[in-house]
Amino acid sequence: MPVVELRRVTVTYHTQSGEARAVQDLSLDVEEGEFVSLVGPSGCGKTTLLSLIAGLVRPDEGEVVVGGVPVRGPNRLVGYMMQHDHLLGWRTVLDNCLLGLEVQGRRTPANVERVRGLLAAYGLAEFVDRFPAHLSGGMRQRAALVRTLALDPQVLLLDEPFSALDYQTRLQLEQEVSQILREQRRTAILVTHDIAEAVSMADRVVVLTRRPARIKREYAIELSPRRSPVEVRELPGFSRYFRDIWRDLDVQI
Ligand SMILES: Nc1ncnc2c1ncn2[C@@H]1O[C@H](COP(=O)(O)OP(=O)(O)OP(=O)(O)O)[C@@H](O)[C@H]1O
Ligand SMILES: [Mg+2]
Repeated sequence: MPVVELRRVTVTYHTQSGEARAVQDLSLDVEEGEFVSLVGPSGCGKTTLLSLIAGLVRPDEGEVVVGGVPVRGPNRLVGYMMQHDHLLGWRTVLDNCLLGLEVQGRRTPANVERVRGLLAAYGLAEFVDRFPAHLSGGMRQRAALVRTLALDPQVLLLDEPFSALDYQTRLQLEQEVSQILREQRRTAILVTHDIAEAVSMADRVVVLTRRPARIKREYAIELSPRRSPVEVRELPGFSRYFRDIWRDLDVQI
């Protein structure tokens, strides 16, 4: 059974200047443990799709189902990591990562230890008691990932989480994040503008049309055995996916 099901969803935003349809009759299933990348033109409705799954936006038509249960609002099954880390400057790294658990009344000694362990595992042991201002951009994103994983979500939504980083840090984080998510067999949906990132991290790439978002094409990425995102870029089949997806996006400009 899929963990995430979008069943013929349509979303329309109502603004002062009128109505803007962001998603049109779109259906998508994501299986447990699957890593799906969403790519599409700017403003086509990618963030809206993640917000639907997170329960932050309601569809006008259709249904969103997560873990077999219709989504009626924000819920614990889904973790959302955004482009900007939204770390709070006045809280230490550890306290930032515990925020979600705190809100849920689950800041227990066992959970504090678990989160310390996550921070250490992701190279932030020395920064646990420091403030976000002391962290580099890559470290901040890692802390934001720990904060999201601390809630142990069944589904992880990643909205351009690396796009504000320099290229080298970005590649390094792609490696780390994909390793972490694969080890833990997490279900993840990544929105990115970067075709290479989309192909190298995912099991499947879904290409969206211009707004309102519909599915234009899907690619099952068969570059197995699974390697790191940097190694995958060097595999013979990689450039074919890159070219095809580039063409799908290009014809829409
Ligand atoms: N809260 C909102 N109110 C009104 N219109 C909105 C709202 N959020 C998004 N939109 C509009 O809906 C469309 C889709 O927006 P969305 O943010 O989902 O696109 P996106 O693909 O994530 O864009 P980007 O590539 O810039 O991140 C856009 O035209 C946007 O202007
Ligand atoms: Mg967006």
